[in-house]
Amino acid sequence: MSGDAGRGRRVALVTGASSGIGRGLALRLAADGWSVALVARRGDLLEEVAHEVRSAGAEALVCVCDIALQDEVVHTVDSVRSTWGPVDLLVANAGVSERTPAHRLDAAQVERIMRVNFLGCVYATEAVLGEMIERRAGHLVAVGSLAGYGGLPSTAAYSASKGALHNFFESLRIDLRGSGVAVTVLTPGYVRTAITGQIAHRRPFLVELDPAVDRMYRAIRDRKPLLTFPRPLSSLAWWAQVFPAGLYDRLVGRVPRTGKEKR
Ligand SMILES: NC(=O)c1ccc[n+]([C@@H]2O[C@H](COP(=O)([O-])OP(=O)(O)OC[C@H]3O[C@@H](n4cnc5c(N)ncnc54)[C@H](OP(=O)(O)O)[C@@H]3O)[C@@H](O)[C@H]2O)c1
Repeated sequence: MSGDAGRGRRVALVTGASSGIGRGLALRLAADGWSVALVARRGDLLEEVAHEVRSAGAEALVCVCDIALQDEVVHTVDSVRSTWGPVDLLVANAGVSERTPAHRLDAAQVERIMRVNFLGCVYATEAVLGEMIERRAGHLVAVGSLAGYGGLPSTAAYSASKGALHNFFESLRIDLRGSGVAVTVLTPGYVRTAITGQIAHRRPFLVELDPAVDRMYRAIRDRKPLLTFPRPLSSLAWWAQVFPAGLYDRLVGRVPRTGKEKR
C-alpha cells in the first residue's frame, strides 16, 4: 500500500471513524500496521476505537472534530502532522443521511448535509493534498454511494451530496494521473449500519458491515480507482442512468416504504 517506507510510519486519517464503515476501515488499516488518526464528533466512541487499534498493536490518535467546520479540519490535520508527520492516506468517509422530501424542502438542511457529506471531504482533501503532490506519494479515498448515481425518493440532499462527491473525486483522479497520488472512489449500496437503520424504505441487496468493509478495504489496499457494489444494485444504478426519465421515475418511485415512513 501507499506510504513513505523511508519514514517507517504510514499515516492514515479516517473521518467518521467512530462507527460503521469508518470504524471498520480504521480497524482493518490498524491490523495492516497503519497509524490511524480517528476523526469524528463523538470522542467517547473514538476512544473505544482507539483502544481496539492499540490492542491490535498499532498507533491511534483521537481527533474530535466536526468535519463540516473547515477550521476544525485544518487544525486536526495540523495536529496529526505535528505528531506523526504527513498524512499518507485520507479516507473521507464521514457522512449523514436525512430525509429531505420535496414537500418539506428546507435549504438550511440541504446546506448542512452538503457541508458534511461533500464540503467536509473537500476541506480534508485540501488540507492533505498539497503535501502529497509535493512528496509525489499519497492516496485519497472518498466514500460515496450508489445513491449518487441518480435521484432517489425523499433523499434529494443525500443523493446530490454523493453525486457531487463522486464527480469531484473522479475529476481529481484524472488531474492527478502520473502525480504519484492515487484516488479511490467507493460507492456501496446499502450496508447495515446506523445510517441504514434510519432509512424508511426497503433496502434491497443490503450487505452486512463486515463483508462490505472487507471489500472496501481491499479496494483501498489495491489502490483501485473505483469500487461499486453489490453487483445487482450497482448494475441497476448504472443502467438506470440511460433509462428514459419517465421510466426511471416510475421504477425508483416504486421502492416500497416501511412502516417508519408515511411521507
Ligand atoms: N450504510 C450504508 O448503507 C451506506 C451506503 C453508501 C454510503 N455510505 C456512506 O458511508 C459513510 C459512513 O456511513 P455509515 O454507514 O458507516 O454510518 P454511521 O455509522 O452513521 O457513520 C457515520 C460517521 O460519520 C461521522 N460524522 C457524521 N457527521 C459528522 C461530522 N459533522 N463531523 C465528523 N464526523 C461526522 C459519524 O461520527 P460522529 O457522529 O461521532 O461525528 C460516524 O462516525 C457515509 O458517508 C455514508 O453516506 C453508507
